[in-house]
Amino acid sequence: MTQLGTEVVYRYYDWLVNGPHPEAVRIGLFANEDMLGFCFGGRFRGATGGFVRDNRYFLMWRVVTHPWLILNPFFRDRVKVGFSILRRLRKPKPAKGVSGQVLAIPSFGILAIATHPTYQGQGVGHQLMDAAEGEARQKGFRQMHLTVHPDNHQAVRFYERLGWQRRDTEGVWQGVMEKHLSSSE
Ligand SMILES: CC(C)(COP(=O)(O)OP(=O)(O)OC[C@H]1O[C@@H](n2cnc3c(N)ncnc32)[C@H](O)[C@@H]1OP(=O)(O)O)[C@@H](O)C(=O)NCCC(=O)NCCS
Repeated sequence: MTQLGTEVVYRYYDWLVNGPHPEAVRIGLFANEDMLGFCFGGRFRGATGGFVRDNRYFLMWRVVTHPWLILNPFFRDRVKVGFSILRRLRKPKPAKGVSGQVLAIPSFGILAIATHPTYQGQGVGHQLMDAAEGEARQKGFRQMHLTVHPDNHQAVRFYERLGWQRRDTEGVWQGVMEKHLSSSE
């Protein structure tokens, strides 16, 4: 999304913050008026779908005006996902995770997490994930999931230190991670 420009990112976060997501958890960590970091999680049913649907012409326009991005395999994959979301929106569907796989049990998704660059490495991310995990446990979830770009080594290491595991899709790891929440913790 960042490749398509700031306006796309702005619209996406506006959708996450103000969209109709009754089961969503929005966490922010602040010092005075400064936001140190944020995390969106929970069950954003149709979060991506709703965003793509409402902004489809704008997104198509951005893709058409950024043709060089099509050379990037990761970007091509995201465009394919966008089209498949639009197709899927026409028919009712069972609960799915960020990977698009049908989930055997309800899972609490981490849709986005970020720490302001100035405050990275100071424990903000840990606090955000602790808060998200606490919300997941309190709501009775036994599992969490997220998707990270496999090349985002800093984030992957961060998740693994927090007990997250990689989940392969057809024998290949494509960035899906999960964490099982034991009831004893
Ligand atoms: C991934 C991300 C959210 C982590 O946030 P963070 O606030 O830097 O995370 P933390 O500070 O809690 O932990 C990061 C490291 O700092 C260390 N740390 C924690 N508290 C610390 C402190 N007080 N002083 C110094 N280091 C500290 C942690 O041990 C951790 O080290 P490790 O990764 O080797 O385990 C952050 O790097 C980020 O915003 N990245 C860009 C956005 C992004 O990629 N998001 C994920 C998309 S899926």
